[in-house]
Amino acid sequence: MRAVLRLKPRRPDLIGAAAVMRVLLGICVLGLSVPKTTAQQPASSSQAGGESKQKPTTGSKYPAELVEQGATLFQQRCAFCHGRDATGGESGPDLTRSKLVAGDVDGEKIGAVVRNGRPEKGMPPFEVADEQVAALAAFIHTQQKQARSRPGGRKGVDASDLQTGNAGAGKQYFEGAGGCAKCHSPTGDLAGIANRHQGLELERRMLYPEDAKSKVTVTLSSGKTVTGVLAYLDEFTVGLTDDAGSYHSWRIRDVHYKVDAPVDAHVTLFSKYTDADIHNLMSYLQTLH
Ligand code: HEC
Ligand code: HEC
Repeated sequence: MRAVLRLKPRRPDLIGAAAVMRVLLGICVLGLSVPKTTAQQPASSSQAGGESKQKPTTGSKYPAELVEQGATLFQQRCAFCHGRDATGGESGPDLTRSKLVAGDVDGEKIGAVVRNGRPEKGMPPFEVADEQVAALAAFIHTQQKQARSRPGGRKGVDASDLQTGNAGAGKQYFEGAGGCAKCHSPTGDLAGIANRHQGLELERRMLYPEDAKSKVTVTLSSGKTVTGVLAYLDEFTVGLTDDAGSYHSWRIRDVHYKVDAPVDAHVTLFSKYTDADIHNLMSYLQTLH
């Protein structure tokens, strides 16, 4: 019965030492962020990228209002390092290219970074409420989505940037240590993947295939089993769409069910990838035409 209310996989988090860190570093927060914020409410023209006029709401799965709130917060507290549009500034990296962001679900990872900071790397910790994390995450994800959807307009990244790895090593990793071959085949489901998705979009799909559906098998009291794509799950009801496209649902207390979310494997793998693994895998996947 894990994660009854969640259709999306969740990951364990690093919150453990966070509280301590926060207390220790709280002083830094004030020291670092306040003066800079006021000093640099940036003239957008001086920011790298020059695409800061983007309205953050197009095509977002987040409510426009939440994205707006996130945008405001981001401008106040993050933009002077990460750029107004989150594509990077003088002292903070491009968050639209961040794999941490790509693998973030509902602000879990982003929230941890914001609350702990990366003091040794130059990012201070912030005191933020859960709602603020949600808003910031909504904004950052929306920016990432937009950045991906304009391949020509974004600076710096295209398929060839992601081709710095070694395709042979990628193939080896795919078949061996990476465990990818357990679920994928270069001549089966991933055949032609390089034609379907390019560059960052491919990388994002590899790191976190967020559209993937979970399978569910429901065992009725009669012993009959029904299998389909998980369509609904809460503490009372489980629903699925069967192969014929029909929706069925049951009261949870009347049945047994087992959710199989193969995409969890990606989430688990995510924490194990090194940058080299990713570059190698990307080079390899890009040979699959
Ligand atoms: C003083 C500059 C500064 C400020 C302010 C700042 N950051 Fe950062 N941030 C950084 C730096 C530098 C890194 C890269 C740390 C590293 O290399 O590990 C970073 C990393 C991150 C990452 C992780 C990216 C990754 O791929 O690992 C996230 C997410 C992030 N910042 C979000 C935010 C948000 C949201 C805010 C505002 C609440 C913010 N940052 C404010 C400097 C800053
Ligand atoms: C336990 C099974 C499993 C493992 C292991 C696994 N994947 Fe996946 N992968 C999936 C599922 C499920 C999806 C979602 C399929 C979909 O969206 O159609 C997926 C999606 C993908 C996609 C996107 C495909 C597309 O058409 O959008 C890529 C690329 C990918 N995986 C690469 C990898 C690589 C590289 C590895 C090894 C490092 C790996 N996967 C390991 C199950 C797995």
